[in-house]
Amino acid sequence: MAKQTIKDLDFKGKKALVRVDFNVPQTKDGEVSDDRRIRSALPTLTHILDQGGSLILVSHLGRPKGDPEADAAFRMDKVAARLQELIGRPVQKADDTVGPDAQAKCAALKPGEIVVLENVRFNKGEKKGDPEFAKQLAGLADCYVNDAFGTCHRDEASMLAVPEQFPSDQRAIGLLVEKELQILDQLLGQPKPPMIAVMGGAKVSDKIGVIESLLKKVDKLLIGGAMTYTFLKAQGHSIGMSRCEEDRLDVAQHLLKLGGDKIVLPQDHLVTTSLDPNEAKTTVIEGSDLPEGQIGIDIGPKTAEAYAEIIRNAGTVVWNGPMGKFEDEPFRKGTIAVAEAMAASPAVTAVGGGETAEAVEQFGLADKVSHVSTGGGAFLEALEGKSFNSLRVIPDRD
Ligand code: ADP
Ligand code: 3PG
Ligand code: MG
Repeated sequence: MAKQTIKDLDFKGKKALVRVDFNVPQTKDGEVSDDRRIRSALPTLTHILDQGGSLILVSHLGRPKGDPEADAAFRMDKVAARLQELIGRPVQKADDTVGPDAQAKCAALKPGEIVVLENVRFNKGEKKGDPEFAKQLAGLADCYVNDAFGTCHRDEASMLAVPEQFPSDQRAIGLLVEKELQILDQLLGQPKPPMIAVMGGAKVSDKIGVIESLLKKVDKLLIGGAMTYTFLKAQGHSIGMSRCEEDRLDVAQHLLKLGGDKIVLPQDHLVTTSLDPNEAKTTVIEGSDLPEGQIGIDIGPKTAEAYAEIIRNAGTVVWNGPMGKFEDEPFRKGTIAVAEAMAASPAVTAVGGGETAEAVEQFGLADKVSHVSTGGGAFLEALEGKSFNSLRVIPDRD
């Protein structure tokens, strides 16, 4: 059932509290290093402004610890400044979330104006889902919009207790959340066959639930990244010095049994003796046994070509997890090959996960796949088939 969206609400003269996910990657100096999450919220924000509403934006940034000095890096000023550049209108920034500055700025807000509140996680009530804190936050606005797809798996106050403060006809999802839910429906509902999942990244343990549930839906599940070596070790192969979750070998065995011949493991590997890209001397090893002392760091060229061919002939592809340590130039060919095949494939192609989305963006291919999710954990949990409390409190459309 479709959720009530911002297209169902009348924003004229209203102050909209929009929960966005502006939890963006930052450089060491606190600059916004990737503004994709901010850009992705723009359609919702401009819609509300064009309808005669004003915007009170609330987000978390990072995981503040409660120490004001250390947490200064998580203030929202640079995010607000980047939004101002992107949206091309003045953006005010409040120095608190529900304190006197936020209250004054929100009270004075006129149609067409925007205020970004301070990091919502600076308030203890946020994580706890405290109803008192929720009341204060909700009290700043006339209606509530959830456009924070990346945070939908969290039950924090601004996601759950705050919308509950508004009458149900004054709660809606934004256009980003709507788009993310539509693509997930497409992936999990009746995907065009053959359906392929590509799973990589660091750990099997992060992805057990997703792999289990995808195995029920896909025709093939292609494995890459460091998790390959936990699977190979579970099969009794030698993996040299590759990353491996020794305490998850039983899980890997269980998944291999469950998947049968749906699970495809790499047929060759790029290996190195050093993780330092400047010292790395890489070689390609064929087969499933790595020499002693070698680290599997990327899928090999034959695997890359085989995976690319499967992706090009698919009806639907969902990809999470890089094929290798793509952050370093010598180790990124496998991830590039998969990203290029996704971009070239006529299939419905969806990419999700923090680092995977970053890789596709870095290669300049984000616009060439059907969808790059703004969700990390939220995307994985949704793929696993979990439903979110934060969306349960947004009513279905009539
Ligand atoms: P995502 O955030 O997209 O879900 P993960 O967090 O699971 O992805 O994993 C991404 C990380 O896995 C990347 O930072 C990458 O460097 C690392 N990685 C992938 N393959 C390897 C490998 N063979 N050895 C070491 N690290 C790897
Ligand atoms: C994310 O980056 O996945 C979301 O913004 C949620 O952040 P969190 O994992 O700190 O709750
Ligand atoms: Mg990650």
